[in-house]
Amino acid sequence: MRPSRVYHRCRVSLILSSTGEFMRQKSRLGNVVLLATCAVATIVLLPGTARAEGNLTLYCSPQIEWCQLLIAAFTKATGIKVAMTRKSSGETFAQIKAEANNPKGDVWWGGTGDPHLQAAEEGLTLEYRSPRLGELQEWATSQAKASGYRTVGIYAGALGFGYNTELVAKKKLPEPKCWKDLARPEFKGEVQVADPNSSGTSYTMLATMVQLLGEAEAFEYLKKLHRNVNQYTKSGSAPIKAAAQGETAVGIVFMHDAVTMAVRGAPIKTIAPCEGTGYEVGSMSIIKGARNLESAKKFYDWALTATAQGLGAKAEAYQVPSNKGAVTPPQAPKLGEIKLIDYDFVKFGSSAERKRLLEKWGKEVKSLPQ
Ligand code: G6P
Repeated sequence: MRPSRVYHRCRVSLILSSTGEFMRQKSRLGNVVLLATCAVATIVLLPGTARAEGNLTLYCSPQIEWCQLLIAAFTKATGIKVAMTRKSSGETFAQIKAEANNPKGDVWWGGTGDPHLQAAEEGLTLEYRSPRLGELQEWATSQAKASGYRTVGIYAGALGFGYNTELVAKKKLPEPKCWKDLARPEFKGEVQVADPNSSGTSYTMLATMVQLLGEAEAFEYLKKLHRNVNQYTKSGSAPIKAAAQGETAVGIVFMHDAVTMAVRGAPIKTIAPCEGTGYEVGSMSIIKGARNLESAKKFYDWALTATAQGLGAKAEAYQVPSNKGAVTPPQAPKLGEIKLIDYDFVKFGSSAERKRLLEKWGKEVKSLPQ
């Protein structure tokens, strides 16, 4: 038997035995013989490439529960071991850029599309055309086309906010329905949002305001809002977790993150702002110089399947999946019913525009007294 066949049979049997199937299918003697051949195969294959390709380092930007569920399912399906770290989208972009001369990550999964597009433009990610591209929604493949196939859309979600209905009632605040309500003087100290440098959610808000109101008016709005912000968090979803715990009345987040809190029983109402709003195309990219390239491609193809995308709902992540065959969770905010702007991903995901807007926000908004 050639080593590759032994190795293959060994892997299949180990996966089966982990589910209990194997024990039902093989006699005890057959089992012992097979384990012995597996040991031999491992010795034969140790110096080769197969062992290195059995690992994957994943940079994950959505909610940690989803990241954990995803890697457990991937390891179960393929036997590939995954080392994962969760960091926000802007932070992950900065890390990949800092590691460009000595890349440590293989795949960047999730997080808002703009920094993935910026990474593509800056040559930090690898061109890859998955055989599964044909299964995806148009908004996901246009993200791929725009980046020269260096990234791809994996989910979508609309920006909005959520508020704690009990706290709003207790403080006798008017129920906020629009972006402009959050900048009203009554909301001083009552609004939480992430920092757009670290968080893709918050950068989506910055870019949304510029597209919705025009740049001059957007910055006037953001300065007024700044007076009401009690904290700029690192992670995009942190503000709605704080609202759920009654630490802030309002959290500006993706609407699906507010839905998660309500599903968990918190008194959170999810709002699609009356003026209209922006949205994200959560994306995935292979990091240029990935040490485990074969594992990276396997993960990439697998993560685009309807089955893998169906795991989101199990982790209470209510984004809209990009695979046309994946079931959109019933709790997911209905994008067709929300007044969405025609978000210009190419412009706002470009390196020059993202850098310029973040610098301007830092100088003209964040530096102001509150
Ligand atoms: C949450 C959302 C995701 C989004 C991510 C961005 O996890 O559920 O849809 O992509 O935030 O995270 P960030 O911390 O960069 O704002």
